[in-house]
Amino acid sequence: MPQLKIGVLISGSGTNLQSLIDSMEAGCINGSIEAVISDKSSAYGLERARQHNIDAFFLNHKDYENNESYNEAVIKVLESRGVELVVLAGYLKILSRRFIEKYRNRIINIHPSLIPSFCGKGYYGLKVHEAAVQYGVRVSGATVHFVDEEADTGPIILQETVEVNFEDTAESLQQKILKVEHRILPQAVKLFCEGRLEVQGRRVRIINNEELRIKSEN
Ligand code: GRF
Repeated sequence: MPQLKIGVLISGSGTNLQSLIDSMEAGCINGSIEAVISDKSSAYGLERARQHNIDAFFLNHKDYENNESYNEAVIKVLESRGVELVVLAGYLKILSRRFIEKYRNRIINIHPSLIPSFCGKGYYGLKVHEAAVQYGVRVSGATVHFVDEEADTGPIILQETVEVNFEDTAESLQQKILKVEHRILPQAVKLFCEGRLEVQGRRVRIINNEELRIKSEN
């Protein structure tokens, strides 16, 4: 099977991007990152990409009339690289409807809570963990999901929990959850690249080895 072409969108430090790069370099994922795009020039993820000879682009929102035209510019870069899967790894801008339609069930996002808790509008960065600690939940975690038109509502691919202790702060919880993110994001991308994810309405079925063998023979 040829390697799947992946585009990664980021806005920040890019530790999740790094987890993907590491998994690919270790040969665990049958895919290659063809482009990393950031809406922030200062995003360290751009530097991470360049260090691994991956083309990295900063597209400035200010250079475009509105969100639609900005999204068109992002699509253009992705198309020019033949991208088949888009990974949002800490990307803070809203995707346009056309973007979501064009890459339906081919956009994956990572969110640092157990969706449907502490997600949606306004829940990003440390705010997610502050809300979880303040609420007093005993578990939180990370979710990888497909992206649809609303914020953090698309079909869930993988989730993993972490315990929240009384001593935890938003910062310590963020660190614990990041470790989980760095495991489940590459895992979800690997499953996608192997053609093992089947979306059925709101639910995602993970196709097992035997089914996959039969599927590839037909
Ligand atoms: C992660 O917590 C991710 O879940 C969220 O944004 C953060 C990005 O972190 N969507 P990094 O840039 O990958 O370090």
